[in-house]
Amino acid sequence: MVDDTMEHLILLLILCMVTSALGATTSFNVMSYGAVGNGRADDSQAFVKAWKAVCQAKSTNPILYIPPKKTFKLKPLTFNGPCKSSRIYILVSGMIVAPRKTEWAGNQLHAWLIFANINGLIVSGKGTINGQGSSWWPQPCMNNAGGKCRGPTAITFRRCHGLRLSGLTHINSPAVHILITATNGALVSNLRIIAPGTSPNTDGIDVSSSTNVQIRNSFIGTGDDCIAISAGSSNINISGITCAPGHGISIGALGHGGYDVVENVRVRNCTLRNTLTGVRLKTWQGGKGYARKISFEGIKFVDVHHPVQIDQYYCPSRVNCQNFTSTVAISDISYTAITGTSLDEQVIDLSCSQSVGCTNIKLDRVYITSSTPGKKVYANCVNAHGKSSHTRPAVNCLLP
Ligand SMILES: *[C@@H]1O[C@H](CO)[C@@H](O)[C@H](O)[C@H]1NC(C)=O
Ligand SMILES: *[C@@H]1O[C@H](CO)[C@@H](O)[C@H](O)[C@H]1NC(C)=O
Ligand SMILES: *[C@@H]1O[C@H](CO)[C@@H](O)[C@H](O)[C@H]1NC(C)=O
Repeated sequence: MVDDTMEHLILLLILCMVTSALGATTSFNVMSYGAVGNGRADDSQAFVKAWKAVCQAKSTNPILYIPPKKTFKLKPLTFNGPCKSSRIYILVSGMIVAPRKTEWAGNQLHAWLIFANINGLIVSGKGTINGQGSSWWPQPCMNNAGGKCRGPTAITFRRCHGLRLSGLTHINSPAVHILITATNGALVSNLRIIAPGTSPNTDGIDVSSSTNVQIRNSFIGTGDDCIAISAGSSNINISGITCAPGHGISIGALGHGGYDVVENVRVRNCTLRNTLTGVRLKTWQGGKGYARKISFEGIKFVDVHHPVQIDQYYCPSRVNCQNFTSTVAISDISYTAITGTSLDEQVIDLSCSQSVGCTNIKLDRVYITSSTPGKKVYANCVNAHGKSSHTRPAVNCLLP
């Protein structure tokens, strides 16, 4: 918490220095580039021009400034680097809104705002990013992306090494709110991400093909995964997150073509309330690769349907779901100091592949009860191997 606050202070300090004679910092206010900020006018060109200026600036700390008490409407846009300065600030104080589905223009169908190839990008402020998703949710099937029907991702960070994102509120994305991909080093903190529990595909934060990522101290309540870690990701720390509602913290689904690897994921001190799943690993049948060294510690569930789950039979369509002999191998998974209540009776489900199985699964101090006082709960196992201690309900397939 302390360093997040420090970061805000430092940013403020830098802003104050704008007027100083040092000339090291330059602020580029989108209003100076023709933005209107009335929520109706298209401010895209103003943002593109301001971005060009920021990205080309030779000062050490250029700032793209989006002022408060105004609403800026942006078309699908890509903010591309590389930039001249090794640090680029974007201070979002006002609101940024997406076009509605009927106004969606251009060839960027799967993503609204993309930040790409910008090292040292720092996005901060008390502003709001509004994806206007309600216009997509009833029929999210405009762009058939690889057979998957969904609206665009609101904000994508691609190859933004050393990214810092903090303080903002993200609401009502058409689909995923924030995607971090192909990035090494990212710190995401103090966000609020909010969409209705019934909104389809509205993941909070997705991380793919990225390393050394920290996500902490944030509130995420949406209609799909709170945080999803997918293939090619390692060294991911998640802590101090409250998910309510949504589909919980997920790793996967892995193994749907290609060789998928996820390792070194730590999930600490998180609360999941009224979510469908709690903490979950999911893999398809027939995949290749591995998911290993994943730990969950200090997790609290309140009225969660499926609190602890490993699902190696992931097949959401439920049609042509076959069992294969190959699978993404799951090993070294630990669950420590995990407590709370569930709305379902099966509170722990370790459904590992028949052919490979999961190895070194450890449960220690896991206590999950029914949300209905006195109602029995149980654990299910398929080919799971490892140890459990101080755990209720008992997980009979694991050694004591
Ligand atoms: C994650 O946490 C571990 C243990 O505290 C630490 O060693 C590691 O550097 C952290 N990784 C990141 C990316 O913050
Ligand atoms: C989790 O909470 C404990 C107890 O409050 C604290 O000591 C620890 O530093 C926290 N860990 C993380 C990674 O936030
Ligand atoms: C796949 O294996 C699981 C676990 O043994 C079993 O429940 C399921 O019926 C199998 N599915 C098919 C299509 O054989």
